[in-house]
Amino acid sequence: MAKGNGESGYRSHVWFGGDEMMNFAHRSWMKNQGFAAENFDGRPVIGICNTASEVTPCNAHLDRVAEAVKRGVWKAGGFPLEFPVMSLGEPVMRPTTMLYRNLTSIDVEESIRANPFDGVVLLCGCDKTTPATIMGASSVDIPTLVVTGGPMLNGKYRGRDIGSGTDVWRLTDDLRAGVITLEDYQEAEACMSRSAGHCMTMGTASTMASVSEALGLQLPGSAAIPAVDSRRYALSERAGMQIVQNVEAGLKLSDVLDRKAFENAIKVNAAIGGSTNAIVHLLAIAGRIGVQLRLQDFDDLIREVPFIVNLQPSGEYLMEDFFYAGGLPVVMKEILPHLHGDAITVTGRTVAENVGGAKNWNEDVIRPSAKPINVGAGTAILRGNLAPDGAVIKISAADAGLMHHRGRAVVFESVEDLHARLDQPDLDIDETCVMVLKGAGPKGYPGMPEVGNLPLPKKVLERGIRDMVRISDARMSGTCFGTVVLHVAPEAAVGGPLALVRDGDMIELDVARRRLHLDVDDGELRRRREAWQAPPPASERGWVNLYTERVLQANEGADLDFLRGSSGSGVPRPSH
Ligand code: FES
Repeated sequence: MAKGNGESGYRSHVWFGGDEMMNFAHRSWMKNQGFAAENFDGRPVIGICNTASEVTPCNAHLDRVAEAVKRGVWKAGGFPLEFPVMSLGEPVMRPTTMLYRNLTSIDVEESIRANPFDGVVLLCGCDKTTPATIMGASSVDIPTLVVTGGPMLNGKYRGRDIGSGTDVWRLTDDLRAGVITLEDYQEAEACMSRSAGHCMTMGTASTMASVSEALGLQLPGSAAIPAVDSRRYALSERAGMQIVQNVEAGLKLSDVLDRKAFENAIKVNAAIGGSTNAIVHLLAIAGRIGVQLRLQDFDDLIREVPFIVNLQPSGEYLMEDFFYAGGLPVVMKEILPHLHGDAITVTGRTVAENVGGAKNWNEDVIRPSAKPINVGAGTAILRGNLAPDGAVIKISAADAGLMHHRGRAVVFESVEDLHARLDQPDLDIDETCVMVLKGAGPKGYPGMPEVGNLPLPKKVLERGIRDMVRISDARMSGTCFGTVVLHVAPEAAVGGPLALVRDGDMIELDVARRRLHLDVDDGELRRRREAWQAPPPASERGWVNLYTERVLQANEGADLDFLRGSSGSGVPRPSH
């Protein structure tokens, strides 16, 4: 049992136990909030790490979730103390929240270690807040439990359901193609986001909530409960009770986050048709907690896994339907033969014990594993002379007819170049071409934004075409769809082969053979490399400078190199 450094066995005792001047100071100033002396009697102190923010609309309701968690902590005999960390609002921040994921993780890590916490509950929801908080907590490794904020209710528009993100892309294409009017488009805006919560498609937020449940870090069933459903608050209260038990049992984060947990999460991500962003985030979390995980695992481990969750963007339904069908426990029960059923979770029980009683209430939303939508069709890892360190494609959201395609490259040197030329009448492009975007990787943008699903040229859209092969070093939103090759590594900004592609080059995508090939001979590529010049640094100072100096490539999780691993949970020296 590893509890900490204090006499009571807890870290918090170093602050709140004893009769030294510093103990007086720690307790006295905390008492200005009205806490009675009994709170400092050696009971476990639970940090409530809150990413609530009005500029992170998906997490704006987390203060209410925090209150529910605190009720549980009090009930179980713990002492809850809430603290804020940097929040990351996907639909608001520029240039991209991914530029700041690692910064939030630093905030989380240092805030936990520097304070008298024996256990921590991470409150998150919007895309990057979930991986960022787990990464930070992993580098401390005390008992940890995740509570996500839950998805919004389904969007409702003119008698049909519409999904966050996914329908934004569809409606935008329809507007550009002249299929709908600007009035239609504007009306959909208010109909899409009609309650508290994160995106209700199986985008990155729902994916990361599901992945954290699959890792064993959330109470079973909690990922899918809508943000405004009373059951989310009841389960949050139970989470508060559970973390106190886990502190008493000494169940550290690393006791849950082992290789088995990651393998389970990778397979669950395939079964739900989850976001490609989960790959980057799981690689980063594994790097913090010390589990060996390779990009190739995301292909090798899922070949036999059935894809069974019929949610947008890969399918039809939304998270509210997923919850009513039984949520993630049903999925994990369906694919249990593929999982490590003996993996330990934050309930103190195994995965198999957690999901054994799950029932499927809607087999159109969650298909039985015997009748899957597809098998081994989640994400594929591609390699070839265009991506020596790998690239990613989400097969479940792509056009089956483009899985083997050879086409002429149309190259955009930057996002600005793309937007400037995309709809120019003289752009030499049709649906057989391969659109290539450079300069959108971790160092290049910087921050690896979600621009990989390049919009199609208007003249192609007007012919009714809705998909083309697109290749970049960017990510794409988990709500997106299309034949989109992402995360090409090494990225163009560090001189990866992507930097050398020119208009007119032939490119071959062969998903069955996991191949991405630039059909240019080695001698010509060598000449182009000699002429290539690295772009200037994005910034000479501050976070952006540190980020671009030290960020790793996508195939390594895009963490900063010096943040990998853990500095432990030791109590730092006193301040006076
Ligand atoms: Fe926050 Fe999608 S924008 S979850």
